[in-house]
Amino acid sequence: MAPVIETRELSKRYRGGHLAVDGLSLTVPEGAVFGFLGPNGSGKTTTIRMLMGLIEPTSGTARVLDRPMPRAARTVLPQVGALIEGPALYGFLSGRDNLLRIDSADPTADPRTRRGRVAAALERVGLAAAAGRKAKAYSLGMKQRLGLAAALLQPRRLLVLDEPTNGLDPQGMREIRTLVRELASDGTTVFLSSHLLDEIEQVCTHAAVMAQGRLLTQGPVAELAAGARGRLTVTTPDVPDAVRVLKEQGVVILESGQERVTAEPPPAETDLAELTAALVAAGVRVRGFGVERPSLEDAFVALTGEGFDVAG
Ligand SMILES: Nc1ncnc2c1ncn2[C@@H]1O[C@H](COP(=O)(O)OP(=O)(O)OP(=O)(O)O)[C@@H](O)[C@H]1O
Ligand SMILES: [Mg+2]
Repeated sequence: MAPVIETRELSKRYRGGHLAVDGLSLTVPEGAVFGFLGPNGSGKTTTIRMLMGLIEPTSGTARVLDRPMPRAARTVLPQVGALIEGPALYGFLSGRDNLLRIDSADPTADPRTRRGRVAAALERVGLAAAAGRKAKAYSLGMKQRLGLAAALLQPRRLLVLDEPTNGLDPQGMREIRTLVRELASDGTTVFLSSHLLDEIEQVCTHAAVMAQGRLLTQGPVAELAAGARGRLTVTTPDVPDAVRVLKEQGVVILESGQERVTAEPPPAETDLAELTAALVAAGVRVRGFGVERPSLEDAFVALTGEGFDVAG
């Protein structure tokens, strides 16, 4: 089965000379919920614009639904629902009328079923109650929902969502995550960008990590996380003693704080039980001890040697 999105050495240099995307080769398999992760300015929106044929790449190629972009835009785009930074809305129209307008611009959309389609899309993104209000009175999160509703008017093979939870409160973010899971279970491939690591981890089957226009890694989320080692956490009021004992046992300390020491998990030959025994024998009051499963954040830190903006 051909990938739903495939780029080869895709690059974009803006007119000012800035290389926003640098030799990106990306493969998005059919049926994936693919998280495109990267900090602000790492080239996510630029990549999405190239995928949607809105801007020309400087070099390299992009295929979407197995057709070349931007050349096949006219046949590809009707099969793709897209939400790209700052959806274009008419402020003087209500949310509902904006969707009716967008739907009537689609030559494949049956006018007889238009109202029902629009109502269903509004319902799906939680905007039914606010549908009659003018879009200019919408909050950022409501505008984002309306943009998403526009992408959902028709069933699509592929949804491309650029930071779909931007501007939403935690409840709204949860709703979008649930929606994305529902769409994926209907068989839609979802490509979504985010700068929130935990969001990608919660909803995505696959991910790619970008930094400064370059791809750091891509693959199934479980594999990316498994590449990292997780961490050992000891909670104790005797931090200095705990650090000393752990070091004696050959454990690499990552952080020691007020009442907590985090470290790399011990080498396989050191039993965790042995480690706790050593701590206790040295008089360390152990209040908590455990190894956390590696997260995408651990993988990211291992890749870049730095933290990631997980709080948003
Ligand atoms: N039209 C443009 N002209 C010149 N430079 C641009 C243009 N659009 C984006 N850039 C630059 O290209 C780089 C990548 O921008 P892009 O918007 O693709 O990043 P992003 O990953 O989407 O960031 P964010 O998380 O903030 O949305 C940035 O350094 C940005 O300043
Ligand atoms: Mg962006």
